[in-house]
Amino acid sequence: MAEASVPIEFAEYADDELPELLRVQVLDFQRIVWPEGFAGANRFRTWTSHPSTAPIHQLYAAGSQLVSHLEIVTVTVTVDGHEYRAVSPTAVLTYPAFRREGWSTRLNARAVQRIDRSTADIGLLTCSPELAPFYGRVGWTLARDVPVIVGPEGRTWQSEDVLLTRAIGSRSRDALERLQDHPLRIQEEW
Ligand SMILES: CC(C)(COP(=O)(O)OP(=O)(O)OC[C@H]1O[C@@H](n2cnc3c(N)ncnc32)[C@H](O)[C@@H]1OP(=O)(O)O)[C@@H](O)C(=O)NCCC(=O)NCCS
Repeated sequence: MAEASVPIEFAEYADDELPELLRVQVLDFQRIVWPEGFAGANRFRTWTSHPSTAPIHQLYAAGSQLVSHLEIVTVTVTVDGHEYRAVSPTAVLTYPAFRREGWSTRLNARAVQRIDRSTADIGLLTCSPELAPFYGRVGWTLARDVPVIVGPEGRTWQSEDVLLTRAIGSRSRDALERLQDHPLRIQEEW
């Protein structure tokens, strides 16, 4: 089988500029790999991350074929009763045929450049424990033993994911100090 002649190229899009064909490939991947986000009232969800989180998509594609993707969202989190604006990469994915070629690591490196320039309070991400070293490669720090508590007051549960952080703004240190003794509280997993 010959290699495709279309080169794999980087692109970045605001959410409302993401070409529909690429959006569908992100959505289909999410629907299959993370079905819990597409259940019940969200069965017909058409957004990759809720538009209120102002997603910025960074991706590699060969023409209209998606190779690898992530999006950077902005969310409000709470630690010890204090609110912080956090920027976070999410929907991090590489289609199976292109895995272990470094595509996602390249996107992670680009994402942190953008996150480090952000005016938010802190960089955060959550992931399964075995992927913590993968994000550690581009400077994310594992917040060891910090529980991530999800859901509205009185109906919370503890996420199985681990938390990684990145100091970016003047309030990062304040948030990181509080995280030493308090869980991260979020309304929903993103
Ligand atoms: C995780 C994922 C995005 C990596 O994409 P990729 O383009 O293959 O990543 P890279 O080639 O840049 O880096 C590969 C590295 O990822 C890490 N990695 C990937 N899958 C892993 C797994 N299941 N467990 C542990 N580490 C893993 C390894 O460190 C690997 O490095 P190695 O090849 O030197 O062993 C891809 O495997 C994927 O789409 N997985 C399913 C969706 C997912 O889990 N996304 C992350 C959500 S937080």
